Amino acid sequence: MAHSNTFRIAALAGDGIGPEVMSACQTVLDKAAATVGGFALSYAAHPVGAQHYRKTGSALPDETLRAAEAADAILFGAGGWPEIRYPDGTEIAPQLDLRLQFQLFAGVRPVRLYPGVQGPLRDSRAEAIDFVLIRESTEGLFSTRGQAVVEDDRVARDVMEITRQASERLFDFSFRFARERKHQGKPGQVVCVDKANVLTSLAFFRKIFDERAALNDDIEARHAYVDAMALDLVRRPWDYDVLVTENMFGDILSDLAAGLVGGMGMAPSADIGTDHAVFQPAHGSAPDIAGQGIANPIAMILSGAMMLDWLGDRQGLTGCRAAAALIDGAVSKALAEDGIRPYDQGGRDGTDAVTRAILSHLSAT
Ligand code: NAI
Ligand code: MG
Repeated sequence: MAHSNTFRIAALAGDGIGPEVMSACQTVLDKAAATVGGFALSYAAHPVGAQHYRKTGSALPDETLRAAEAADAILFGAGGWPEIRYPDGTEIAPQLDLRLQFQLFAGVRPVRLYPGVQGPLRDSRAEAIDFVLIRESTEGLFSTRGQAVVEDDRVARDVMEITRQASERLFDFSFRFARERKHQGKPGQVVCVDKANVLTSLAFFRKIFDERAALNDDIEARHAYVDAMALDLVRRPWDYDVLVTENMFGDILSDLAAGLVGGMGMAPSADIGTDHAVFQPAHGSAPDIAGQGIANPIAMILSGAMMLDWLGDRQGLTGCRAAAALIDGAVSKALAEDGIRPYDQGGRDGTDAVTRAILSHLSAT
């Protein structure tokens, strides 16, 4: 269908369950777009990932990179396979390469307990879990990735790098993000998660946070140490609004956070830069369940909804936001009203069953 507002989406499905959840996501995005009207999506698939590396020696070919750069947005499934590794023993991770290539400095991970999902916390306040973890994604403890060496089989060093430039843009993004949530009735609070008590780099991180907080005084700014935050995310996650943190801390805390709301299959994410953005589930290629049709597609589908929000904001199209909200509501209804239970939540609903249930709630009301 020709459409004046057709967004060109680079679809990088990758490895393992990546292609399975990618296809579910595209079906849902298309139906939501058709229901709302006013825009459409056209996808171009491009190779990426560990299996591609095994075949060709490249995990992220130049053609893929160029196509991703030219596209309006990038959808990513999952990259990586435990047995496929670089000579230094690390895994191929094209999602990390994309973050560097396009300077996608803000890894946005919304954490919400959807109605009907049984999280691990028994406290009834868990129903109110609704926070966003923003992970710095271009430096921190990942700064020497691919460059660190083991010296004489004796010592290896990875370097924690915190720059003023990356930190300022990260914190400014986080305060803007909290402000937008505040307009939707959220508390309007940002917590800087660091280790400023021990590491100079993270004391610097906190100092820059305080500087930017002073320029954003309509938003409440607080600090927490990362170890204490790990405890609090289990003890009282419902008290948080926006958390912002260093790359490695964000990597770890986002898996913990996913565990609070039903697992990796419920954890969407967006890697956002100034000109480009990648939307992908927080999970990996899940080799243990790949090819069985049982992957939970919700994390990927919600990442697709985040893509619509982002496109809508950039292009000034309210229809995109409406379609994203429609998808979010359909996920809620599938879980709460239809009683859909994906395998990773102990249920028996495979990828297709979950997708069909979501599709059934996407008609205009
Ligand atoms: P993983 O997220 O792939 O899997 C962890 C566990 O969660 C597994 O038991 C898996 O079956 C389950 N799981 C994950 N997503 C699921 C879904 N949608 N539905 C149902 N269950 C799901 O993480 P893991 O095992 O550490 O890594 C596997 C591979 O993925 C590795 O090669 C790793 O490097 C790569 N990886 C890639 C990421 C990316 O592309 N952004 C992120 C994390 C890992
Ligand atoms: Mg991770």
